[in-house]
Amino acid sequence: MEEKVSWFTATFMSSIGKKLVMAITGLSFCLFLAMHLVGNFFYYGGGSAFEGYSAHLHERLILLRLAEGGLIFFALLHVLFGGILYFQNLAARPKGYVMKKSVIRKTTPGGQTVSSRLQAYTGLYILVFVIIHLFAFTFVDRTAGGGLYRIVTTAFQDPLYAAFYVFSVIVVGFHINHGFWSAFQTIGANHPKYMPAVKVISMVYALIIGACFSSIPVFIFLSA
Ligand code: HEM
Repeated sequence: MEEKVSWFTATFMSSIGKKLVMAITGLSFCLFLAMHLVGNFFYYGGGSAFEGYSAHLHERLILLRLAEGGLIFFALLHVLFGGILYFQNLAARPKGYVMKKSVIRKTTPGGQTVSSRLQAYTGLYILVFVIIHLFAFTFVDRTAGGGLYRIVTTAFQDPLYAAFYVFSVIVVGFHINHGFWSAFQTIGANHPKYMPAVKVISMVYALIIGACFSSIPVFIFLSA
């Protein structure tokens, strides 16, 4: 009997379908990070500005929960499809001597480049970082310990914790640097005329994210 595969399954099980999911979810995270950064900058305005921004978000609880739900769903898709693509590429990798040659060329016939392999490792690191981050600042009792402003300030007064954050946001920057242009390539913006500009924008965006997110732990640590 002929087995029918739906359009949906066929699209999302194809390599380009999976890459499309990675691109859409990844670009959404870039948007989330830009909004998160704006929120973080309220820290420089002092305790009441920072607490005020957080309270403003939590007042719109339904919208916030919807956004959080979407973020979790996208994160699950990004990790799942990223993992599948990584192992598919790994399985397509040549062995032995051919492998050594392919490393020199920085590309394997399985289509996996050194930076796309690095992307899997930085992605895994970010997953662990985000879980630690959520337990530090989101799943906490904000009524105890003087509110979110005090919780963040106390955390980054510890030099090791501040260094861990700076390192982590640099890893996020590396992930974005490759992921951003790669996503644009997937969605079809890979015209030789525009790609160099897209790569520059990726690098600038990655630098902004890395530097601006790092500025808060560095600022708190230096003013401690
Ligand atoms: C120095 C850097 C960072 C600081 C100081 C910081 C601070 C915070 C704070 C205070 C919250 C709680 C906000 C609230 O509920 O009102 C939060 C939530 C969150 N942060 Fe960060 N963050 C940083 C970097 C990052 C990075 C790089 C990522 C992602 C790669 C990230 C992902 C998240 C997520 C997913 C949430 C939960 C959002 C929600 O539940 O609405 N953060 N962060």
